[in-house]
Amino acid sequence: LREIDATRWYSNFGPLVQRFEQRLAERFQTPTRIITLANATLALALTLRARAPRGGVCLIPAWSFAASAHAAHWAGLTPCFADVDAQSGVLTPEIARALVQDHVIAAVMPVLPFGAPIDLEAWAAFECDTGVAVVGDAAAGFDVARVAPVPLVVSLHATKALGVGEGAFLATQDEALAADVRAMSVFGFKGTREAFMPALNAKLSEYAAAVGLAALDQWPQTRRRFMQSAQKLRGALSDTPLKFQDGWGADWISATCIAELPEADKAARALALEDIETRRWWGRGLHRQPAFRTAPQAMALMHTNRLAAQTLGLPFAFDLDEAAIERIAKTLKGVLV
Ligand SMILES: Cc1ncc(COP(=O)(O)O)c(C=O)c1O
Repeated sequence: LREIDATRWYSNFGPLVQRFEQRLAERFQTPTRIITLANATLALALTLRARAPRGGVCLIPAWSFAASAHAAHWAGLTPCFADVDAQSGVLTPEIARALVQDHVIAAVMPVLPFGAPIDLEAWAAFECDTGVAVVGDAAAGFDVARVAPVPLVVSLHATKALGVGEGAFLATQDEALAADVRAMSVFGFKGTREAFMPALNAKLSEYAAAVGLAALDQWPQTRRRFMQSAQKLRGALSDTPLKFQDGWGADWISATCIAELPEADKAARALALEDIETRRWWGRGLHRQPAFRTAPQAMALMHTNRLAAQTLGLPFAFDLDEAAIERIAKTLKGVLV
């Protein structure tokens, strides 16, 4: 922060944003361009706008956060909901391939559910075979976003594993896309003060980059502490029918603990009685939210409906202490076992 005051460079791609983008790019296994942005909702909207013609349809899993569908809307696309795979909760290329046969689809937005990895190479193959633009919503996927065979958007919101308050980045191997999204994040300017395309102001400030650089320095320790906390929570609930996301706390980490259990409502009520807060992060599915109730559905949303009824966000933090874990486990066992 002292550096910001010393240079008096507070925004507009100053030295800290440049360093932060460089450090983020180094996390990727193949050469990848990083474009920082003000938040993931704008990052998704601008990336879709750059990749898909306006007026088209964007296929989105109904099992996602409101921002996925809002982003499609602001990109000039109609969000159209698809169901997810029963086991993984993911919109897969197989599901999308079946739908592109008899629907005209301009773009697809696969979502990394609560930060879990998905098969990005399979999505790159899908794009290559069908010509349909793919933009990955990896909002909670900071930990697993290490390759970007399709453009990926990662959120740096305070609720995410690496948070800067508000922020996000686009990771892409496509130089032209990176340049377009950069220009669209700064009034359509390309190095001069002339606007070349419809655009927004969606830049990341130097303050947010400073926080991001500090958070990256600490990331190895933060990640280890998140993992340890997750393992303790998993251990305390191992003898219950509650299921955690595959590999969560072992192969990958996120800042939310997502539990699948027979009746999420009942468990949430029991926990609330003990003053333990829970979150239905994605509500009852996008298709049931007032803003999207009239949006088209490309298929029956059976698995989304089941997941919505059986998914609950439990309290989670890297410094969740033993006593808190014990309290959560004891209350949940009272309902589940
Ligand atoms: C799946 C998904 N997409 C997009 C977003 C939007 O991210 P942001 O808050 O950075 O706009 C979120 C936020 O949590 C999310 O969960």
